[in-house]
Amino acid sequence: MHKVLFICLGNICRSPLAEGIFNNLISNQNLQNNFLVDSCGTSGSYHEGEKPDPRSIKVAHDNNIKLNHLARQLTVKDLSDFDLLTVMDKENLLNVQNLLHKHNLSIHKTNLLLENTDLLNKEVPDPYYGDQKGFEKVYELIQIGCEKLLVDLTI
Ligand code: 4NP
Repeated sequence: MHKVLFICLGNICRSPLAEGIFNNLISNQNLQNNFLVDSCGTSGSYHEGEKPDPRSIKVAHDNNIKLNHLARQLTVKDLSDFDLLTVMDKENLLNVQNLLHKHNLSIHKTNLLLENTDLLNKEVPDPYYGDQKGFEKVYELIQIGCEKLLVDLTI
């Protein structure tokens, strides 16, 4: 069983999309019993309990993916409950690494979603202050990252 937690800042734009896309990939391959998948934000306090941003819901819907997540903040318990803490950008990676370090846990359980892809820029940019086009770009990047992550976890 792989326990994967996708992490961004607010848990309303990028990480709920990553959760939806990854869940879609594993269910297409009938692998849902081998995975526990969730998402959260390092700064959940602004958006706690909210549905994903309408622009994330739209781009997911356009790709036949339904997002069911409600925003929540990363907890200390998550650090030990999940074996992979997959983060969207370097700012949030640093936040998670600092928290792991503070609790004497291995920082090797966290990585950037795009780390092992061929993409030059390893970050999924924050789309919040942009337009729908930005969400479409983010969707493409997350799709690439999730496909690579699933290959890496199933070989
Ligand atoms: P996310 O995007 O981290 O991908 O969920 C953001 C959502 C909200 C804010 C920033 C980024 N905000 O500043 O409220």
